[in-house]
Amino acid sequence: MKQNWFKKEIDKFSKLSGYKKPEKYSNIIKLDSNENYAIDPEFISSLIEKTQARLDVREYPLGGTERLVDSLSQYLKLPPEMIGVGNGSDQIIDLILGNFASSKTTILTSNPTFGFFEERCKLYSIPTIKIPFEKNMTLDLEKFLKNFNKASILYLDSPNNPTGFQFPRKQLERLIHEFKGLVIIDEAYVEFSDSSIVDIAKKADNIMVLRTLSKSFGLAGLRIGYFVANKNVVDTFTRVIQYPYPLNSVAIETGIVALQHSKHFAEVAEIVKKERKRIIEKLREMSVFEVFDSQANFVLFDANGSSQRIYKALIEQGIAIKNLGKIGKHEGCLRVTVGSQTMNSKFLTAIRDLLN
Ligand SMILES: Cc1ncc(COP(=O)(O)O)c(C=O)c1O
Repeated sequence: MKQNWFKKEIDKFSKLSGYKKPEKYSNIIKLDSNENYAIDPEFISSLIEKTQARLDVREYPLGGTERLVDSLSQYLKLPPEMIGVGNGSDQIIDLILGNFASSKTTILTSNPTFGFFEERCKLYSIPTIKIPFEKNMTLDLEKFLKNFNKASILYLDSPNNPTGFQFPRKQLERLIHEFKGLVIIDEAYVEFSDSSIVDIAKKADNIMVLRTLSKSFGLAGLRIGYFVANKNVVDTFTRVIQYPYPLNSVAIETGIVALQHSKHFAEVAEIVKKERKRIIEKLREMSVFEVFDSQANFVLFDANGSSQRIYKALIEQGIAIKNLGKIGKHEGCLRVTVGSQTMNSKFLTAIRDLLN
């Protein structure tokens, strides 16, 4: 009888597809996962080397996340009491949904939205209302406002993955102000944009702003996520909801050293923004694609019926981008991550040659 119950549960979950990770290729120019290859790999290695002397991995990292929070506090110029950490922002999302949402709490978000977030909603049977992107890959604020009374949680990745769209600050402020439930603003890519709303958490007690060191800090493999919220939210999350040791010692120490070099990472983010502009302009010059503006470290474009062909041909040439299929009214969309200048040039040359 008891076994039967478990089997049913497993059968139910097995019907879900789960988050689909990108293909694993070897020797590939990897522009499919919004990682940051504009950062010099030797610089990153030097950060990890600097942590060696401090590490004793025989110990649990007692007091470690607190020191990381202090470093984040200096970086953000916000009190440490307003900052919580997680094993990637993925884990923070999971804990928020697992503890604050259920089949009885509807979430209002965009379509598309961050894929992992969507999968997690399915896992926990959380109903969602998804506002589709417009034809020009922007969102209509009014459509969100109209659905406010039907939802308990508002989730927006801002800038949005995969479109690169970000609501102007004034509009986001309005959304946050008028929504009465929990507002989750996921700013994973915010360092590549021109504005953040992280400071709003000082005034509002119903907002959690998610951030990460995976993107502009180029530390995706270390899994360092964090969030900013009202002191009460952070205290409860950290003391009760979060694991006692969510981050490993190497991640904590490297994160602290990386934050001491935040100026360097900001400079690299500026290079990424310039490269993003170059990619957008060059793709538009080819006069075949519809290329959308982006505030993140990637560019989305409608390949006008040739997305499969382009995706496969690029793979054959050792370049991986993301094949997204239909987005809104656009049938075949591709997303390319902004990488190092050399990687970007190789991508642009390859795609130009394909069209000739
Ligand atoms: C919108 C968004 N949020 C969060 C994440 C995950 O960040 P982390 O590496 O901190 O888990 C991603 C990663 O692609 C993302 O696109």
